[in-house]
Amino acid sequence: MKGILLAGGSGTRLYPMTLAASKQLLPVYDKPMVYYPLTTLMLAGIRDIMIISTPADLPQFKRLLGDGSQFGVTFEYREQASPDGIAQAFLIAGDWLDGCPCGLALGDNLIFADHLSVSLRAAATRPEGATVFAYQVRDPERYGVVSFDETGRALSVEEKPTNPQSNWAITGLYFYDHRVLDFAKAVKPSPRGELEITDLNRFYLEEGSLRVDRLGRGCAWLDAGLPESLMQAGQFVHTIQARQGMLVGSPEEVAFRMGYISADQLRTQAGRMGKTELGRLLRELANHA
Ligand code: DAU
Repeated sequence: MKGILLAGGSGTRLYPMTLAASKQLLPVYDKPMVYYPLTTLMLAGIRDIMIISTPADLPQFKRLLGDGSQFGVTFEYREQASPDGIAQAFLIAGDWLDGCPCGLALGDNLIFADHLSVSLRAAATRPEGATVFAYQVRDPERYGVVSFDETGRALSVEEKPTNPQSNWAITGLYFYDHRVLDFAKAVKPSPRGELEITDLNRFYLEEGSLRVDRLGRGCAWLDAGLPESLMQAGQFVHTIQARQGMLVGSPEEVAFRMGYISADQLRTQAGRMGKTELGRLLRELANHA
């Protein structure tokens, strides 16, 4: 399976912070935001990743992430000329996907859960259909919303409904089988002029192959699109790291634990972080291996 990290858009809700910088490169406590969804894709076992962003921001992503070898993965970069919808990512990546199944992570979505990698790997290795993750929220009208029948099967998916049928929001993490490009080509622009990811999900729902994994109470799903949620995400990461001494959203750590890089390579990455706390934690991990 290949992966796409979608990190475009204009981030207007974070102005003036995003007037001159990409939203997905803003700090979430001690790391750039994009590190968090990147580690989610890596935890799913995905090592071929395309990063899509605006023509103006893409060079900064290249500067930060390079070719991916430091994390034992491969990065490809492509521009999205204008933010015409999330489902457009598959059209942009079409030839590169070359008929492969694909995971998609939105660059501003952070998911933390116990045993997340088990569900991620299951989603990434399902041979047919699509898998999305749902999370209960107070304000479903801001998101893609999924409703269920009494047996727990997904009944409907709607984008930002005025009258939501449930409180279950669909998170910005999606896994699709090899047919995703064909389905994406069939998506028509919505009234707001975007190729909606929810319309792509509806194709799978209608043929009965959309699996919706519900994230339970112990999980946190944060989207860092507003000043307040950006700060909350940073505080959340800080709290866990300070209290448990465990890293959250470190591609270096995930690469090492997944066996993508050796202890020596991890030490080199720790060295790049200098005297930071992150560098210290990575060094400790390499030395105790
Ligand atoms: O966060 C999860 C939600 O993301 C889902 O529940 C919704 O179904 C989905 O449509 C999306 O809703 P948003 O209102 O959050 O979408 P937004 O336009 O803010 O875009 C989400 C991220 O994707 C954001 O970081 C910018 C990036 N993006 C978006 C579009 C439309 C792009 O890179 N290119 C685009 O064309």
